[in-house]
Amino acid sequence: MPKNQQILLDNRPTGEATASNFKLVTTDTPALEEGQVLVRHHFMSLDPYMRGRMNDAKSYAAPQPLGQVMQGGTVGEVVESRNAKYAVGDKVVGFGGWQEYSVVNADQVGALRKVDTTHVPLSHYLGAVGMPGVTAWYGLVKIIEPKAGQTVVVSAATGAVGSAFGALAKARGCRAVGIAGGPEKCKYAVDELGFDVCIDYRQHKDAASLSKALKDACPDGIDGYFENVGGMVLDAVLTRMNAFGRIALCGMIAGYDGQPLPMAYPQLLLTNRLMIQGFIVSEHMEVWPEALKELGMLVGTGKLRPRESVAQGLAAAPEAFLGLLKGKNFGKQVVKLI
Ligand SMILES: NC(=O)c1ccc[n+]([C@@H]2O[C@H](COP(=O)([O-])OP(=O)(O)OC[C@H]3O[C@@H](n4cnc5c(N)ncnc54)[C@H](OP(=O)(O)O)[C@@H]3O)[C@@H](O)[C@H]2O)c1
Repeated sequence: MPKNQQILLDNRPTGEATASNFKLVTTDTPALEEGQVLVRHHFMSLDPYMRGRMNDAKSYAAPQPLGQVMQGGTVGEVVESRNAKYAVGDKVVGFGGWQEYSVVNADQVGALRKVDTTHVPLSHYLGAVGMPGVTAWYGLVKIIEPKAGQTVVVSAATGAVGSAFGALAKARGCRAVGIAGGPEKCKYAVDELGFDVCIDYRQHKDAASLSKALKDACPDGIDGYFENVGGMVLDAVLTRMNAFGRIALCGMIAGYDGQPLPMAYPQLLLTNRLMIQGFIVSEHMEVWPEALKELGMLVGTGKLRPRESVAQGLAAAPEAFLGLLKGKNFGKQVVKLI
């Protein structure tokens, strides 16, 4: 059996996460038991939620245990099988974690899914045609529920979730407005992702200034907002929401290192009769088939051309992950392992 490089959570961060929270080790892959398969990971996913799990705190999911392989999504190839449903060479998506190989009990519900790479590159099953894409779909379709012609806004617009949101909103005839960090990301949002406008929030020193830019970008106000960051961006968007607007609260990355994220004008929720709904995509497995079908079609037909930031090799994962928490990624952050 091959040697397996792994990254463990060695200790928990206090404040900002650092590379010293992680530890790289090499182990032997165990021999397979009946029903198991050995998967060689080609790509692993780095996602903002991993930061929350590094803390030992009450949340919607259990903390990442210390001394164990960092959990996370993976795509790869079956290289050995003792399960009749999986053959060597099958391309699969799973939850193999920060390591080169995983041994999977392939009969366990949801443990592994075969994927077709004819029209969709393997790595996109970690992004646009995977968990982040379904997240965008759920927030837009099930929470915002937009009508054609309405204006919807998303923060972290060029990221894994935001880029899928733009394509899904345009497919529903909405005006799609992105908010992202930096001119290059904003240009890409409009030129490649199909957003009608993208605002560079880094050009605005406070919520009042960002609110003015939103007024120009959204002349009919904002009907739906998909929140990924929190803080100043949320404050600014709230000032431009239309009455009975809907907010899908997906993430608040600006506070993932433990910073407080006070809301400046919560009274706007009342005066504009807004609906704000937090959600966790893994609690809505019933929508995944429908969402993945639409997302696969958008990618397969070139209507959604997601960009990726690719880190090379397992050892590069911690720095790439820390960069993701600071907006250094441009598109879905993955690590290439082969
Ligand atoms: N609820 C769920 O089930 C669920 C599932 C998946 C993801 N999420 C959430 O969705 C959000 C996006 O995830 P993703 O995977 O698509 O990540 P991503 O957008 O690909 O990467 C994170 C982006 O967040 C932005 N960012 C980082 N720090 C920031 C800060 N302090 N202030 C403002 N923006 C900051 C950066 O973009 P800019 O350079 O443009 O600022 C960065 O590129 C995250 O909040 C994540 O936790 C939630």
